[in-house]
Amino acid sequence: STDELHARIRAAKDALGDRVVVLGHFYQRDEVIQHADAVGDSFQLARAARQHPEAEAIVFCGVHFMAETADMLSGPEQAVILPNLAAGCSMADMADLDSVESCWEELTELYGTEPDADGRVPVVPVTYMNSSAALKAFCGEHGGIVCTSSNAATVLTWAFERGQRVLFFPDQHLGRNTAKAMGVPVEAMPMWNPRKVLGGNTEEDLAAARVILWHGFCSVHKRFTVDQIDRARAEHPNVRVLVHPECPMPVVDAADGSGSTDYLVKAIAAATEPTTFAIGTEINLVNRLANQYPQHTIFCLDPVVCPCSTMYRIHPGYLAWVLERLVAGEVVNRITVDERTAGHARVALERMLAATP
Ligand code: 13P
Ligand code: SF4
Repeated sequence: STDELHARIRAAKDALGDRVVVLGHFYQRDEVIQHADAVGDSFQLARAARQHPEAEAIVFCGVHFMAETADMLSGPEQAVILPNLAAGCSMADMADLDSVESCWEELTELYGTEPDADGRVPVVPVTYMNSSAALKAFCGEHGGIVCTSSNAATVLTWAFERGQRVLFFPDQHLGRNTAKAMGVPVEAMPMWNPRKVLGGNTEEDLAAARVILWHGFCSVHKRFTVDQIDRARAEHPNVRVLVHPECPMPVVDAADGSGSTDYLVKAIAAATEPTTFAIGTEINLVNRLANQYPQHTIFCLDPVVCPCSTMYRIHPGYLAWVLERLVAGEVVNRITVDERTAGHARVALERMLAATP
């Protein structure tokens, strides 16, 4: 039964004490979150992975790219464990190293390699945290950086100080929404298309490009629409609409605010008067906030339940299993990044950590 599972998880955690730390992303189901020692957005969890040098193991309740990052930022002796190895991210899978390298070659041919009079290189690569360690390594090796949804504007500012333009992958929406808010015209953001090879863009477009967007997206967040926002406003005249920046640009433009999962959590926590919130993000987080703040009316913009199916693959049963194996002295489901890749990826991650206040 579920009660039994929770008792097993608690018993294993008690037996392990400080030897283990459990990290949980905001999108995890409540049955997992209740056992987490730290809960946060992907940036906070990356930092948290460094803040527990006493732990022999970090059990990461989230998705694969987050566990890879935790492995690269934690100590070499620490094991990072992903309770279910099938917990990936479909967006992260939309950019692989081969395609990014061939895009890079083409951009190099187009823009050359010479810095301008201000010393800015032609292109700085920026990868969203939601990407494989290999892409973070690519950025580390090519003067680039990692960003998350909470520091994307800060990171783009860093990149524009060093480059004339940015190649942003894999999420076109986070790239477009962030750059637009910084004043980059949408016309200056052509999209890379591997089949048409920057096809659909004229030479003038490419010459004027400030941000070259990859064609990736999040299948959860692309479901949100302006129609849903219009309906929410019609039904709840004073509704505050808050969305994640992985939503398409028209949705972010029509919302009252947008930001990372931590931004959404804090925005609701900060409301002093009873407020109606329509939220454009994953359903487990929205439901948790609705339960946590009964004084507010909080609902998901999408009336059809939209969980992140891969986040949902972390079932408490897997958590109990990996913890009990640890008690028995066995590390299962360890995520490791090879040292060569990790060395380059850390350069890009460290740039992000240093650039983020
Ligand atoms: P956050 O960094 O906002 O937690 O986003 C991670 C993510 O995968 C959103 O879909
Ligand atoms: Fe990936 Fe989207 Fe799930 Fe976030 S919500 S982990 S971007 S599939």
